[in-house]
Amino acid sequence: MKKGLIISLSLIVMLSIILSGCSKQSTLSRVKKSGVIVMGTSADFPPFEFHKVVNGKDTIMGFDVDLANAIAKKLGVKLEIKDIDFTGLIPALQSGQIDMAIAGMNATPDRKKNVDFSDEYYNSEQVLVVKSSSSINNLKDLNRKTVAVQLGTTSDDAAKKIKGIDLKELNRLGDAFLSLENGRVDAILMESTIADAYLKEYKDMKMLHIKEINEAVPGYSVAVAKGNQDLVNQINSVIKELKDSGEYDKMLNKWMGK
Ligand code: ARG
Repeated sequence: MKKGLIISLSLIVMLSIILSGCSKQSTLSRVKKSGVIVMGTSADFPPFEFHKVVNGKDTIMGFDVDLANAIAKKLGVKLEIKDIDFTGLIPALQSGQIDMAIAGMNATPDRKKNVDFSDEYYNSEQVLVVKSSSSINNLKDLNRKTVAVQLGTTSDDAAKKIKGIDLKELNRLGDAFLSLENGRVDAILMESTIADAYLKEYKDMKMLHIKEINEAVPGYSVAVAKGNQDLVNQINSVIKELKDSGEYDKMLNKWMGK
């Protein structure tokens, strides 16, 4: 009798383990069930994502937020935004803390090993930002100079290939600008569209286009946890609809003035 009870109990335990394994939900079904999609981003990247006080309230806005809202609308759910350091985004996708990362993130082959990406929606170029009074004009001038980048970005990758520099990897791009302002670094390596936005605020700085630091990389894409093709398909159809309807060009015009 006792033996039978133990056997059936262990059967129940085994069955529930198997069942819970099978019912591991896709991100899309979790999102639809909860009625909320959580976007992770590093909101230091204007005009794609940045903080602005609107009617006394701290708000995250930008091109990527508009894209995220279009995705939420398509799925019929609400959008929630989490501001995370850039290097934390892929781990947050993997642990299910966020449902999608939209952060001006290039769909690089390395990242593709860990997450799935949507179609590309933007391309940007690496540039150097220096003080207007700086004597730096080209790559050679960077010898023994201190260069700031955002940690874990394609700018970080590109900077690692420049010989003779002292690299400062920072979690937030805003800190790179404060460092340049205060003379703690000599230059920032970053992307041109974002440099354009920061330079509106930092008037005593300029942007240098340096051909040699640019390598062909895939463009910006939305990242989701691996194995979520259904969600990727939905996101791709949103990107396509935005482009086909002319809404995408309106967004470019709104955020980049292009
Ligand atoms: N495009 C670069 C990359 O993929 C930088 C992205 C940084 N994004 C941000 N929201 N700070 O690595």
